[in-house]
Amino acid sequence: MKVLSVFGTRPEAIKMAPLLKKLEEIDAFKSVVCVTAQHRQMLDQVLRRFHIQPDYDLNLMRTGQTLPVITTHIVNGLTDIIGKEKPHIVLVHGDTTTSMVAALTAFYQRVPVGHVEAGLRSFHRYSPFPEEINRTLTSRLATLHFAPTETNRENLKREGITENVFVVGNTVIDALARMTRSGFTFRDKHLRALDFEQGRWILVTAHRRENIGEPLERICRAVRRIVSTYPDVQVVFPVHLNPAVREKIFASLEGCERILLMEPVEVEDMYSLIKRVHMVLTDSGGIQEEASALGTPVVILRSRTERPEAVEAGKAILAGSDEEKVFAEASYLLENEAAHARMSEPIPLYGDGMASDRIADILLSYAREKGLPYKKARP
Ligand code: UD1
Ligand code: UDP
Repeated sequence: MKVLSVFGTRPEAIKMAPLLKKLEEIDAFKSVVCVTAQHRQMLDQVLRRFHIQPDYDLNLMRTGQTLPVITTHIVNGLTDIIGKEKPHIVLVHGDTTTSMVAALTAFYQRVPVGHVEAGLRSFHRYSPFPEEINRTLTSRLATLHFAPTETNRENLKREGITENVFVVGNTVIDALARMTRSGFTFRDKHLRALDFEQGRWILVTAHRRENIGEPLERICRAVRRIVSTYPDVQVVFPVHLNPAVREKIFASLEGCERILLMEPVEVEDMYSLIKRVHMVLTDSGGIQEEASALGTPVVILRSRTERPEAVEAGKAILAGSDEEKVFAEASYLLENEAAHARMSEPIPLYGDGMASDRIADILLSYAREKGLPYKKARP
């Protein structure tokens, strides 16, 4: 079975990596990888760590790129590759513009699409933007839906999508299992120099398009207030490479005492950071999942989330981007030890680390059903 996997950004690469490794292990698959490189440095950082060598690289990232430009470049670049490779199935992940457009391009050539991380919904078309609509469209285009949780399956059902929906867990937990080990020391020398035994550390990340501008300024003000109110608190903030994000964050926080702004860190360093800090403040999707698996409380810098499981389980708090609210929620966790302890128990909400195995099995069954070239998996 020839499987063409298409992805382009950091989180897609992290979450597709364990599945690509699984496909490589099984003789029945011919795995072909195409990266759009919607991200460049942040994608390459992940490809290196997981030893992934793409067969095709559309190399499309431009500084300050717009959604229409990414969209048209992906359609143009990928059409030829799908035409040449003639895969039995195209796999896409999640909700980026790469995912949605790759699914559309495959559909135009009548190639079935498998959607990894299907069924997440915030039920608001502009939050997150454009991800909510990207993933909804991808669901309409896909043939196989690999949903991380039962909630995700229910979301698809509400949209009338009930066939070929499989609850498999999130491959992010597979990636965590691959990339975390005891006795790990940071790869980054700046991180190695930090003393996590001294005081309390907070990890911050922010990059969502709907937070760029005034919301990001409010978030930064809240971070400054947290640090000035709690003298034992230190912040580590790996800054996304989007220039619009960097400009605001550096303008607001550069040079502030006890706030360390960093370049994007390697994924194992990130996992180790999440594990060691007192709490995480983030608008990231993937980090919400990782933090609940690693047992670190999260203050979500968004007004709604498509990952409600952690909020419902009391492991994450929705704070949005209001300065007062972000400050209040972080203060609550800094001052209330019992609440912090309750939120710090790791909980397997998003999977058990076997999602890639399940997806590979389902693909093999699909190949059998469709009479595609099929060989039994190596034991
Ligand atoms: C994209 C995804 C978002 C995902 C995020 C993960 C879309 C529309 N957005 O958002 O869903 O959560 O990735 O991080 O698909 N840049 C670099 N180097 C890099 C990466 C980005 O310089 O390695 C800069 C470039 O100037 C680029 C800009 O960041 O133009 C924005 O990148 P883009 O992929 O358009 O949007 P993100 O906000 O990263
Ligand atoms: N991540 C990383 N280095 C960083 C920041 C994030 O490796 O400096 C990882 C993080 O652990 C998670 C993924 O990147 O696995 C999340 O990416 P991002 O927040 O950019 O996107 P989202 O998940 O919101 O789509």
